Amino acid sequence: MPLVPPPAPAVADGLAAVPDRTGLRVPPRAWPVRLSPIAFGGDYTPEQWPDAVRREDVALMREAGVTAVTVGVFAWAMLEPAEGRYTFGWLDTVLDRLAEAGIAVDLATPTAAPPPWFSTTYPETLPVARDGSTLGIGARESFCPSSSRYRDAATGIARRLAERYRDHPALAMWHVNNEYGAHVAGCHCPESERSFREWLRTRHGDLDALNEAWGTAFWSQRYQDWAEITVPRVAPMPVNPAQQLDFHRFTDDEFRACFRAERDAIRELTPDIPITTNFMATACPRMDYWRWADEVDVVANNHYLVAEDPEGHVELAMSADVARSLNDGSPWVLMEHSTSAVNWQPRNLAKAPGQLRRNSLTHVARGADAAMFFQWRASRAGAEKFHSAMLPHGGTRTRVWHEVTALGSDLSALREIAGSRVTAEVGMLWDWESWWALELEYRPSIDVTYLDAVRRFYAALWRRNETVDFVRPGADPSKFRLLVVPSLYLTTPTTAAVLRTYVEGGGRLLVSFFSGIVDEHDAVHPGGFPGPLREVLGLWIDEFHPLPAAAAVHLDPAPAADTRSRLRLRATVWSEEVVCEGAEVIWRFADGPDCGLPALTRHPLGAGAAWYLATRPDGEGVDRVLDLVLADAGITGGRTPEGVEAVRRASPLGSYLFLVNHGPVDTTVPGGGVDLLTGERWADGVRVPAGGVTVVREDRTADGDTHR
Ligand code: GAL
Repeated sequence: MPLVPPPAPAVADGLAAVPDRTGLRVPPRAWPVRLSPIAFGGDYTPEQWPDAVRREDVALMREAGVTAVTVGVFAWAMLEPAEGRYTFGWLDTVLDRLAEAGIAVDLATPTAAPPPWFSTTYPETLPVARDGSTLGIGARESFCPSSSRYRDAATGIARRLAERYRDHPALAMWHVNNEYGAHVAGCHCPESERSFREWLRTRHGDLDALNEAWGTAFWSQRYQDWAEITVPRVAPMPVNPAQQLDFHRFTDDEFRACFRAERDAIRELTPDIPITTNFMATACPRMDYWRWADEVDVVANNHYLVAEDPEGHVELAMSADVARSLNDGSPWVLMEHSTSAVNWQPRNLAKAPGQLRRNSLTHVARGADAAMFFQWRASRAGAEKFHSAMLPHGGTRTRVWHEVTALGSDLSALREIAGSRVTAEVGMLWDWESWWALELEYRPSIDVTYLDAVRRFYAALWRRNETVDFVRPGADPSKFRLLVVPSLYLTTPTTAAVLRTYVEGGGRLLVSFFSGIVDEHDAVHPGGFPGPLREVLGLWIDEFHPLPAAAAVHLDPAPAADTRSRLRLRATVWSEEVVCEGAEVIWRFADGPDCGLPALTRHPLGAGAAWYLATRPDGEGVDRVLDLVLADAGITGGRTPEGVEAVRRASPLGSYLFLVNHGPVDTTVPGGGVDLLTGERWADGVRVPAGGVTVVREDRTADGDTHR
């Protein structure tokens, strides 16, 4: 990202340009107006508390500057204590008080937690694990996504809520269910099995096509009758990978059908209120959120730091960038994060002073127009009592409470940034289907995982302040100067064709190893590797040579290559025998099974070039790869002192530079403008205190340059 602010975008680039979807009153990606300008609050579970506490809640929310809360997420048993008997009175009072206090409500349907009476009356709605055991009650999310009984009941309670609160002044947005697919990887009950067969009929048409797609001639798996097909079960050996992949797709579709059923019931009654559900962008490998993004009015995301990960803030940035990309670049809702420790990791480290502010404002920097938490008040009882909250057990004298109220003030000071957008020059392909397929059993190496592949490039780009937009496979990437494609194991001919057109049109493409291997049925592309990417990359691969655990290989610049690097670099996990067919060799393996053979190549094609990386370099190696590839793409970027993250949001109103200092030293970054958080004016360099955040409305002249 250049440190010089860009010229002001034309108004047409702003939110107004979002296309309308015929038939819908809420255009997709339209910001829920009642959450404007920047929503601040969290999950509110008043059903846990006596009325005196609920009254205090509203008073303290006002004190903290809370503007919005999510109510009712797991309240089914408190709203319908027995079948057909509703107790909405307490919720009426809660919503009335919130409305009176000017606090908007993201009203949740409680369907992620069917009550015990429901599960015991209808035990067939409980999910069944792969080993055939029925998952019990006493937790939450105990439902089979294919159960028609569950779907009817869920749609029923959603409709009741919409009927009752359709005109409530506090109602700002609907929040359907909670983190679909987070805890149930798929249901293996008889009803799911029947639905799976139906789903397969629709997908494959007839049994011959299914047998062909699944390669059932191998291992005597040929099906003669639909009734023979099962959901994947515990079996003596890995179940057919194409069958498993279809089961992933089916499960994803079934959860989405649950969402749609509730959404449509609600939409009928409140066509003007946006509807969403909360995603876990980088943390739920089971849902294809590209498809989910097509269904929601605005993307809402949850993010929890892995507390022991020293680079957790980089993963946080990645999650935020995925969320923004799912929402087509428009402002998205950070629905949940934590004020301090969570309760479900092996060691639940508390956030250090200042970390809450850095975390929340990083999400905002990356396009969130909301900073919401799980949860408002810490629970005294139940499974999550050791989870942090906005209002901790110790109340208003705690450090966390002070940091929370300070964040409320920060967000209020930042209100003019609402609606502004983040721009990126680098795109990165992100594909859930390929992730599912890559991590099935019997791959060349268990050390190759999708998130690792993506994170290595993302982290290197983060270190250089290159903001990344994630790109859906098959989508047109031509607005990016560089497109990174980390280990795209499953590559369809359509995706490959888009990549080729992109390069021919002048784009720079960087593809990493184990890409282009299989088609949508997990069958190896005819002719070997990298299948449909062979032409664009100008090479083929004779054999994979995965490395033993803890083994390393080294890489040297190829003698003839034009490279700035004279370092010997180290790589692990993977090596392979690359045969060039037009690509030039930039680096070679200096040792290991492919000693002397290409490790990094560049293939000029049309007006662009495609790079290929045949191994997994250490962090420094990825940095050096990016030196070359970014230079080739003409991206110069703006470096900040180490550990200082820089992201820009811009709108016709202004250009806003967010600087987040993750390091222990006060620092100054070139530039100038008005500090929105302190009101200070920076004329010759913007100061970012150690562990702090600075947001400046940048000075700019008509041509987009700084004031200097
Ligand atoms: C989320 C969930 C919340 C809460 C939180 C704890 O996944 O949506 O309800 O359980 O985790 O970190």
